[in-house]
Amino acid sequence: MVASLTGIVKRYGKKLVLDYTDLDIRQGEILGLLGPNGAGKTTLIKCLTGMENVDQGTIELFDDQKNPFHTRNKERIGLVTQEISVFVELTAKENINFFAGIYGLKGEKRKQRVQEALEFVGLTEHAKERAAKFSGGMLRRLNIACSIVHEPKLLIMDEPTVGIDPQSRNHILEAVKKLNQRGTTILYTTHYMEEVEAIASEVVIIDQGQVMTRGTVQELVRNIQHEEKIKIEVSHPEMISLDQIEKLVDVKQVTKIGNEIVVIAIAGSGHLDRILSIIKEGSGIISMNVEKPDLEDVFLTLTGRTLRDGGEK
Ligand SMILES: Nc1ncnc2c1ncn2[C@@H]1O[C@H](COP(=O)(O)OP(=O)(O)OP(=O)(O)O)[C@@H](O)[C@H]1O
Ligand SMILES: [Mg+2]
Repeated sequence: MVASLTGIVKRYGKKLVLDYTDLDIRQGEILGLLGPNGAGKTTLIKCLTGMENVDQGTIELFDDQKNPFHTRNKERIGLVTQEISVFVELTAKENINFFAGIYGLKGEKRKQRVQEALEFVGLTEHAKERAAKFSGGMLRRLNIACSIVHEPKLLIMDEPTVGIDPQSRNHILEAVKKLNQRGTTILYTTHYMEEVEAIASEVVIIDQGQVMTRGTVQELVRNIQHEEKIKIEVSHPEMISLDQIEKLVDVKQVTKIGNEIVVIAIAGSGHLDRILSIIKEGSGIISMNVEKPDLEDVFLTLTGRTLRDGGEK
């Protein structure tokens, strides 16, 4: 096991943020960590890397439970934080070189690793430009380069693709896959289902500091295969009683996303008529479609929220 969290409890003041959380990160995997805003993802990462103390529970890094945060273990971790942490007044190369120094790289090896990290994120041509000039996507890529320059065994990425252009995003996803193929184990936090589907070998969904489920994307979706997703676009969403729909037998989840009412229900159980008549009491119907569930619905079923926090219950 590369890392294990067992029974982790973490409070900030009175607020319980991690609630007996368990998580195993296995050698060679890309583990996708999904959870709505405030679920505790960043806190979990901070506990795992020793940046925050835990109130209860045990942490193991590289099979070391006695002294998990020993320098020799920390040196084997790369962390891409949610907030970009580079020096804008330095060039791309100077930034990476700085981090290489922190990790104790020296001489020729250091030069070579800096060059490789630049290439890896596609910034070689911009090596001598100051980060202050960079776009959001370039900054993200630089941030990643800084955290992989020492060739970590475990790379932890906390929402590395938020707010960037599609090209940089693809670049990052490809780089993550390549790193993984070279033997790096990866914990990848995101709100984007497509990213998890594209790269993760397994997914963990957390909500309110608890692990709700874990499995491959296929396994998680298969668990809800007997369900369907009904999307109904309406003229007056505010006039519709979600409670009334939710009370129907076989209806599992009702969410309002903008002008759309999204209902997750047992497939083919004849509830459509009843749902539509409840809606028609308050609003007109503009369009409707019924879909097979996907990972987004696994998440919705478990947490009552959408991945991008657009929905409300
Ligand atoms: N230093 C802190 N002091 C007090 N409360 C905190 C602190 N850090 C986090 N919290 C609270 O803990 C909860 C979990 O926060 P955390 O940042 O771990 O969530 P997250 O899953 O990473 O969310 P996001 O998707 O928005 O990044 C939130 O309610 C947050 O307000
Ligand atoms: Mg976070």
